[in-house]
Amino acid sequence: MKPEDEIEKLRREIERHNRKYYVENDPEISDREYDLLFRRLVELEREHPRLLTPDSPTRKVGGEPLDAFTQVRHASPMLSLDNAFNDDELREFDARVHRGLEPGERAAYVAELKIDGVSVSLLYRGGALVRGATRGNGTVGDDITANIRTIRSVPLRLAGNWARDSEIEVRGEVFLPIAAFEAINGERDKNDEPLFANPRNAAAGSLKLLDPAITAARPLDAFLYYLRAPHMKLPSHSECLTKLREIGFKTEPHWRRFDSIERLFPFLREWENRKESLPYDTDGVVVKVDSLRQQDALGTTTHHPRFAVAYKFQPEQAETIVENIVVQVGRTGALTPVAVLRPVHLSGTTVSRATLHNQDEIRRRDVRVGDTVIVQKAGEIIPQVLSVVTGKRPASAKPFVFPEKCPVCGARAERREGEAVTRCPNPWCRAKLKESIRHFASRGAMDVEHLGPALVSQLVDLELVGDYADLYFLELDNFAGLERMADKSARNVLAALEKSRTMPLDRLIFALGIPLVGARAAQILAAAFRSLDSLAAAPPEALVQIHEIGPRLAESVVGFFRQKHTADVIAKLRKAGVNMKMESKGAGAPLAGRTFVVTGALSRPREDVKRAIESAGGRVASSVTKKTDYLVAGDSPGSKLARARELGVPTISEDELNRML
Ligand code: IVH
Repeated sequence: MKPEDEIEKLRREIERHNRKYYVENDPEISDREYDLLFRRLVELEREHPRLLTPDSPTRKVGGEPLDAFTQVRHASPMLSLDNAFNDDELREFDARVHRGLEPGERAAYVAELKIDGVSVSLLYRGGALVRGATRGNGTVGDDITANIRTIRSVPLRLAGNWARDSEIEVRGEVFLPIAAFEAINGERDKNDEPLFANPRNAAAGSLKLLDPAITAARPLDAFLYYLRAPHMKLPSHSECLTKLREIGFKTEPHWRRFDSIERLFPFLREWENRKESLPYDTDGVVVKVDSLRQQDALGTTTHHPRFAVAYKFQPEQAETIVENIVVQVGRTGALTPVAVLRPVHLSGTTVSRATLHNQDEIRRRDVRVGDTVIVQKAGEIIPQVLSVVTGKRPASAKPFVFPEKCPVCGARAERREGEAVTRCPNPWCRAKLKESIRHFASRGAMDVEHLGPALVSQLVDLELVGDYADLYFLELDNFAGLERMADKSARNVLAALEKSRTMPLDRLIFALGIPLVGARAAQILAAAFRSLDSLAAAPPEALVQIHEIGPRLAESVVGFFRQKHTADVIAKLRKAGVNMKMESKGAGAPLAGRTFVVTGALSRPREDVKRAIESAGGRVASSVTKKTDYLVAGDSPGSKLARARELGVPTISEDELNRML
């Protein structure tokens, strides 16, 4: 390939991975693979300087901030780090550093564990936290102060005395400890919600939530590693780290200072072996020149500082055998090839499957049944097939032939121009149907409790339902004879379905499974159109006018509602009495403008009472204050009742509330 073509191809690929990683929080490749691509581009641009353009991804840090938060400009750019993959590359870094210093001058280094999380910048004025921001594209990030405030280890006020106008900036890494990550995913799995790929993504997702109350429920933590406080006159990075501790921040405790690069190598060996024993993920060691004067003398490039480098640990790998390759059909009909592996132990878990992504990927890697492969887990739950050990390939192994038909329904698979995914186009395909019903019922969508994947599978296989709207026409008799379905369980499912009819409009829009419409897009669409009918009738021009709705999403929505199948399903949902309007919260609503607190045991779950108050325009708060209009008290109300009496807040019973409703 000609260098200009390769450069162009790499740039496009890197841009795409940047978007996947920074904007969509849904990376496709491991950090290491990304680093290698990035490096190859840097190398080519160095060899062919005339091909360097200002818009190359090597000229910026990567990623655009999301639109929903206010944007803030960083005092100095939040840069990335250059990587080193072995000791020799660290020696080269050391040589570069010394070339940049005065003759005879020596650099000492600080080595810190590189925490795999999300970098943030925190601003303190007069010792108080005034702003927290994400890195964003390095220059401009999102203002996430409300979410940062929920992190228990981040001080809202600093220790010591601070002049009113003193300003300091600290930077560091917000992360989710591994145990918390596993607990959250366990919970999501139970509720059929999509899993986070790794603790880093879970932390990033938690910081970008628009509702800080949800962020607060995630046990995020933070290590700080950067302090700029001009008035303190700190001479070195190691003293900044010590000072950070003194004024109330958490710093990663294992950092050490070394007089030379050679002395630092045993530290790398030690942590290569010990990293699994830590309660959080680390993917390497950051090596920084200790003296801040020397740091300033060395300066930065547009992408990274010249005084620091990230030594990356080799991700854990294992060798195993591909016993089979199966093709799974997802909710949108995407056919995904998956390698079924002889189980092997890797980074603390047993691995028995690995995704092979798509048709091109499997051809590019030429993975065959019977092959010995190297699998790698770099923080992700789903491991990757890194390479095939071709020397161990049995003579009988044949190239994998990607099916031309959907393996479940037999429909001819389709692949659209310019897309990597092959799809089953049949709207009645059982695999798609099962996935779409599971999605419809999932916790983030219509939240139909007790309708698990095994039950959905049986309902579809026995043709008791042909789409998700049919769920609402099931009767008790239909459940008789289903496996593991006692009368009580069937009643529970029916009750949960009944309850789901009053779900807010955005949940319904999300539940429909319109391609590209996630929970957030659904909220935006619901707020803009206020009823399913107006959304269904909206022309593409009306959709793209909405801030945050792009042309691809608009096209997908219009295409979805244009299908005859969709119209039929919606007609059935309407007949079933499913709510299709934005609940009225305006002045006409009976409880508009009133704030309630609910306490004690009531006749129905507290969530239901809360929802009823909210759909009548009221607000539900968690604690009694002077602003509370009514305390709804059930049996054994506890301290809230006392507090309400103290403040003179009227207390009402559940019956009285029902009358108001
Ligand atoms: S220093 C100017 N120190 O790694 C240098 N970064 O690949 C900026 N990271 O964006 C970073 N632990 O999110 C530094 N001890 C540490 C770090 C660290 C993790 C992250 C940080 C940065 C990324 C660069």
